[in-house]
Amino acid sequence: MSGNSITDLSSYWNRWASVWDIMLRLVGLDCRYREQGISVLNLRKGMTVLDIACGTGLNFPYLFQAVGPEGRIIAVDIAPKMLQKAKERANKNGLNNVEFIQGDVSLIELPYADAAPAFWCMISIPEHQMALENIISSLLSGGRLAVLDLKFINDFPGAILNPIFNQICRFTHQDVNREPWLYMEQLIDNVKMREWKLGGLLLSNVYLAWGEKK
Ligand SMILES: C[S@@+](CC[C@H](N)C(=O)[O-])C[C@H]1O[C@@H](n2cnc3c(N)ncnc32)[C@H](O)[C@@H]1O
Repeated sequence: MSGNSITDLSSYWNRWASVWDIMLRLVGLDCRYREQGISVLNLRKGMTVLDIACGTGLNFPYLFQAVGPEGRIIAVDIAPKMLQKAKERANKNGLNNVEFIQGDVSLIELPYADAAPAFWCMISIPEHQMALENIISSLLSGGRLAVLDLKFINDFPGAILNPIFNQICRFTHQDVNREPWLYMEQLIDNVKMREWKLGGLLLSNVYLAWGEKK
């Protein structure tokens, strides 16, 4: 990416679309974290859920199971090729209640929703604080946001690996120096956090942070 323009960002992520699912599995970052992330959203049948930076739609089966065919899944991503994969997944699984929006989640007007999972994307979205504000403004009262992502290891000896992990993230246009859970505490209530040690290729921890709109 030469800059942070929307075109650069979407072409960068387009290149990941065909390998994203395999990559996640290879680095051991899939189902168990995703399931936990969905479970803290307290979804119920008929709810509307905003799948933030949905990628290839790996959340869809879990979201569909939770909100049922009477619910709505609104999937947002900046990269058309990611959305294409996500559409294929929805079609293949017969999910008729998934809607797709292409755009930058920090800029576009998002539809109102009861809950929003934002998984593996807070280190990727350039204006992540604007994105958090935007997502939260789209949540209905009592609506929940869950953020799942990688973070630095805090304690010794794992923390020795932080500079290596930082470089890998910079190389892949991601910024692991962020602490979105702190900003979430300013914007929503009852923010809780759970952390798994050495969850990402032994180089980083995984965290799940969630809270509720007043
Ligand atoms: C690492 S992938 C995560 C995909 C998905 N959330 C998952 O759990 O598998 C990051 C995704 O964020 C999307 N993305 C990055 N910046 C974005 C932005 N500003 N607005 C919307 N989507 C964005 C990318 O296109 C990509 O699909």
